[in-house]
Amino acid sequence: MSLLVVRDIHKSFGGNRVLRGVSLELEEGGVLGVVGPNGSGKTTLLNIISGVVRQDGGRIIFDGRDISSLRPSIRAKLGIGRTFQITRLFGNLTVLENVLIPLHYGSPLSPSREVARELIEMVGLSHKIGDRAGSLSLAQRKRLELARALALKPKLLLLDEVFAGLNPEAVREIAQLLDRLRRERGIALLLVEHVLKALFSLTDRVIVLSEGRVIFAGKREDMVEDREVIKAYLGERYERKKGS
Ligand SMILES: Nc1ncnc2c1ncn2[C@@H]1O[C@H](COP(=O)(O)OP(=O)(O)OP(=O)(O)O)[C@@H](O)[C@H]1O
Ligand SMILES: [Mg+2]
Repeated sequence: MSLLVVRDIHKSFGGNRVLRGVSLELEEGGVLGVVGPNGSGKTTLLNIISGVVRQDGGRIIFDGRDISSLRPSIRAKLGIGRTFQITRLFGNLTVLENVLIPLHYGSPLSPSREVARELIEMVGLSHKIGDRAGSLSLAQRKRLELARALALKPKLLLLDEVFAGLNPEAVREIAQLLDRLRRERGIALLLVEHVLKALFSLTDRVIVLSEGRVIFAGKREDMVEDREVIKAYLGERYERKKGS
């Protein structure tokens, strides 16, 4: 059975048609990458799945249940965790306090101290447990966001550019951590990502968004040869790389 079914999602902001009929499926414990040019609607799609943005049309089915109109805190309780493209932490609170604080306003969900410590250990931040979140490096802030998301025992993690801005070593370590979460806890991953090398170390299944539509869904090896994908996304990236 599919863990997540996204069916024909439409969303406009004013006259800007950001998503125009996006569908995808992800099975329990599966990994799917979502790629595409800037502004193609990737973050909006994650926002709609987590519930912070409401779609104009279409449905979200999670774990066999239609969650299309549920609040974000209820979706989190059902098992949808997420991290943000720009990390959202409490800079003046410690690493431990950030994990103890509920992820959603008005939600009673927060882990015990013991569980929080385990999660911090799991993401490799034990040596920073008493430090202010504001003093952490970008890679450490991303680890802390993961610990916060894991505190709700998700079945699915939505990750918005978790590798962006990290050095190659940090990219490798976080990719290993995500792979462990999938293998040991069976957590499914939906990754919005521009760092294709890291993405492909976790999965070979991708969808490509362009101007709010899925222009490709399938395997990595077919994606890199797809004419439309090359035109809308890869071509520009390769040209940029060649030029730099
Ligand atoms: N809350 C909002 N209000 C108005 N417009 C929005 C809002 N959120 C997103 N948009 C617009 O929707 C479009 C898609 O944005 P989105 O952030 O989903 O793209 P993206 O694929 O995540 O891009 P990037 O790769 O740069 O992160 C953009 O034109 C953006 O300006
Ligand atoms: Mg985005």
